[in-house]
Amino acid sequence: MKNIILLGAPGAGKGTQAAFIKEKYGVPHISTGDILRRNIADGTPLGLKAKSYIDAGALVPDDVVIGLVEDRLAQSDCNGGYILDGFPRTVAQAEALDRVARIDVAINVDVPFDVIVDRLSGRRVCACGETYHISTLGGDETCRKCGKPLYIRDDDKPETVLRRLEVYRQQTAPLANYYEAQGKLRNIEATGSREEIFADIEKVLDDLH
Ligand code: AP5
Repeated sequence: MKNIILLGAPGAGKGTQAAFIKEKYGVPHISTGDILRRNIADGTPLGLKAKSYIDAGALVPDDVVIGLVEDRLAQSDCNGGYILDGFPRTVAQAEALDRVARIDVAINVDVPFDVIVDRLSGRRVCACGETYHISTLGGDETCRKCGKPLYIRDDDKPETVLRRLEVYRQQTAPLANYYEAQGKLRNIEATGSREEIFADIEKVLDDLH
């Protein structure tokens, strides 16, 4: 398997597609957002540092995130490939990644603004890591995997979502050009169903072999 980056705006569906890729291809899903949220929940020094940035919809400083990704990629389960979800998010992060890894493809999950707002305003998550959309829950807001009650992420509040989208536009969207220049960018139009989008991603990944 290959070393994959999932690019895309907040709420574009990166985490949803990463879960599908992980299941089919058996590679680890490395989400910097999930790692940071776990550290916040555990009250670690990293979590304490990250919390104020995440709650404000801002990016956690590059040196913090680069260090944690470098540590994660050094683990042996990454030897057979991996999916990076939410990293890199700045050109400085992409350059740091290029110094320690060989990326095969950057898949840009492309969704219009109004669809993103709907996806984020309806998102429900579970402490076990599962993610849902309210439209698929039929009024039962408990996790289908572990039965715990679902909740709304703190940074999915409307005012924080707008800030995250602006940060994305300014700091992360330019990464499409960065990977285009390397010949590694693949754009996926991601307004369809989860399964339709994954079928397009599978074509990209299967073409790499
Ligand atoms: P992070 O957790 O990475 O958040 P994000 O990039 O904003 O992405 P999301 O998790 O919000 O969305 P997603 O694209 O994964 O969508 P999902 O699949 O859940 O980061 C959070 C924060 O951490 C950042 O703001 C920052 O502060 C910090 N951080 C993280 N990484 C960092 C870094 N590298 N540098 C600095 N700071 C960093 O889907 C969304 C919803 O839509 C769900 O409800 C889902 O069920 C639904 N959905 C998905 N696909 C479909 C579909 N096809 N049709 C209908 N609904 C769908």
